[in-house]
Amino acid sequence: MISIQSNKVKALSVLSLCLSVFAVSLPASAGAVDAKLDNAMQEQFPNQYKSWLATSEQTERQDMLASYPAAIILWAGSSFAKEYHSPRGHHFAVADVTHTLRTGVAVAEGEKGLSASCWTCKSPDVPRLIGELGVEGFSAKNFTDLGTEIQSVVYCTDCHVKGSAKLALPRPHAQDAMTKAHIPFDKQDINMQGAQVCGQCHVSYYFQPERSNKVNIPWIFGNNADDIEKYYDTRRFYEWIHPISKTPILKARHPEFEHWSRSEHAKQGVTCITCHMPATSDDKGNQFTSHKVSKALEHYPQACQGCHGDKAALMQTLETGKHEIEAKAREVEGLLVKAHYEAQAAWDAGATWPIINDALMAIRHSQWRWDFAMASHGLYAHNPSEGRELLDTAIEQAKYARTSLAEILKMLEVKEVNYPDISTKESAQKAVGISLDTLTEQKKAFLKEEVDKHWSEVSRHGYE
Ligand code: HEC
Ligand code: HEC
Ligand code: HEC
Ligand code: HEC
Repeated sequence: MISIQSNKVKALSVLSLCLSVFAVSLPASAGAVDAKLDNAMQEQFPNQYKSWLATSEQTERQDMLASYPAAIILWAGSSFAKEYHSPRGHHFAVADVTHTLRTGVAVAEGEKGLSASCWTCKSPDVPRLIGELGVEGFSAKNFTDLGTEIQSVVYCTDCHVKGSAKLALPRPHAQDAMTKAHIPFDKQDINMQGAQVCGQCHVSYYFQPERSNKVNIPWIFGNNADDIEKYYDTRRFYEWIHPISKTPILKARHPEFEHWSRSEHAKQGVTCITCHMPATSDDKGNQFTSHKVSKALEHYPQACQGCHGDKAALMQTLETGKHEIEAKAREVEGLLVKAHYEAQAAWDAGATWPIINDALMAIRHSQWRWDFAMASHGLYAHNPSEGRELLDTAIEQAKYARTSLAEILKMLEVKEVNYPDISTKESAQKAVGISLDTLTEQKKAFLKEEVDKHWSEVSRHGYE
């Protein structure tokens, strides 16, 4: 494996020299992926290229709000309550973020819309644009303003030095974060570097308001749920004020890197690459790394069997872990939905901040831990014990919030609290005032007038 690779690296450095000779003839406006580089990649690395292309076959995804409608109440007041799907193949990254109701429609000239930071984990055009505009110059732009600049989905140059097989971390926020966590990219072995290239995107982040909404990874105190919560609490940070309970809410985003980094697998040197991009071979027996980044269990023989010989036992462990985590998550959701409405009833009856603050902080901290577990896709496989601990604490905190609210409601002589019907996505969205029909119509008009006419074809992949 090592010798195959070093030969390829040599071949590549020759190739990159050739490319720099051709570079003069490229159009000045070429995006991150110019046609010459793309052809060269395809010819030089047909196996990696073909398997990378095959992520376009991973069309399946799950409507998470339909599966777990309680989440709509917990995310009320944010765009997450409008639409939220599980992830699918990398080839859909640009089209899905373009089409989701979360990113909405274009705003009027001169108005501040959603930040261009939403493009950060979708395309190699982002490091290019950051190079041209600066970190804050990029994030200060509106998402829709940069739509025409985004010409490629997750590509070779998102993980490799341009024209080379050497791994790279082109996103400044990821370079910063790995340094904060004392694992600077340049000092890591190839195994950890592989995990870090995934960790550019599969990681928790927030948009830093005082820095033009640039992507920031909140790891100053460390990167578990307690450390990140401390970071946010000491900054009095919140993403939005919950419209029902008035809780200042924290939102977690896919901390797959963090959860994996504390797992038994990480200690054994088993990384994202081992499980999601296993070594494989073509019909001539040449070994290469599969670039069809996809579900790990599809690769059981290459990725797991060597260490977990008993497939049935492994599936049983996974099933049990998944079931336990799901059951605990549903319990937290049930408790938090009630807590949000009990807080609303308390406010309506005249509660004040000094009285209700303790309960609202418990809602904030419980929902944070629930989200830190739920936003981490594949937690039951990546780190089931951390998942169980997070949700057990979330349950305790939500129960504490409700006990505190029950005392307040008693004091204010509130006899009854009305809870919403959250049996379906439709009923839960209705309860928080979301009209899916209106949002969908506005989105359709935007797609027809703007995206279909002016944006690159990658923004329509899977929607035509
Ligand atoms: C999402 C990140 C990612 C993307 C996108 C990506 N690669 Fe890779 N690539 C890796 C990782 C990780 C390795 C494995 C490094 C290791 O552990 O040896 C790798 C290995 C390679 C190697 C070394 C030989 C081998 O198969 O292990 C080549 C060549 C290569 N990639 C080419 C490409 C090309 C060409 C593209 C674009 C079509 C591409 N890569 C896209 C992450 C990526
Ligand atoms: C540039 C950002 C970026 C990088 C780098 C990246 N991903 Fe992703 N990944 C995404 C996005 C965005 C999606 C969701 C795409 C969608 O649903 O439209 C995704 C989806 C996935 C999925 C779901 C696939 C499916 O079919 O269900 C897996 C698994 C995954 N990534 C693993 C990895 C691994 C492993 C690496 C490192 C080798 C990696 N990703 C690197 C952005 C990235
Ligand atoms: C021990 C193997 C293993 C390791 C290591 C691992 N994963 Fe996974 N991952 C899985 C399994 C198993 C699942 C559950 C679904 C599946 O992929 O079969 C999963 C699920 C996911 C999903 C959700 C896929 C979906 O469509 O819902 C993403 C994204 C993901 N992993 C990314 C990563 C990243 C990024 C890393 C490294 C930081 C990583 N994984 C490390 C095995 C692993
Ligand atoms: C290099 C060896 C190795 C590989 C490859 C490997 N694992 Fe593991 N796995 C371990 C070790 C060691 C443990 C910890 C001891 C144990 O529970 O068996 C473990 C534990 C687990 C656990 C229990 C986790 C927990 O914390 O309770 C699951 C689930 C699991 N592995 C799934 C997978 C899957 C799925 C794959 C393939 C996609 C995989 N592993 C690949 C070595 C490996």
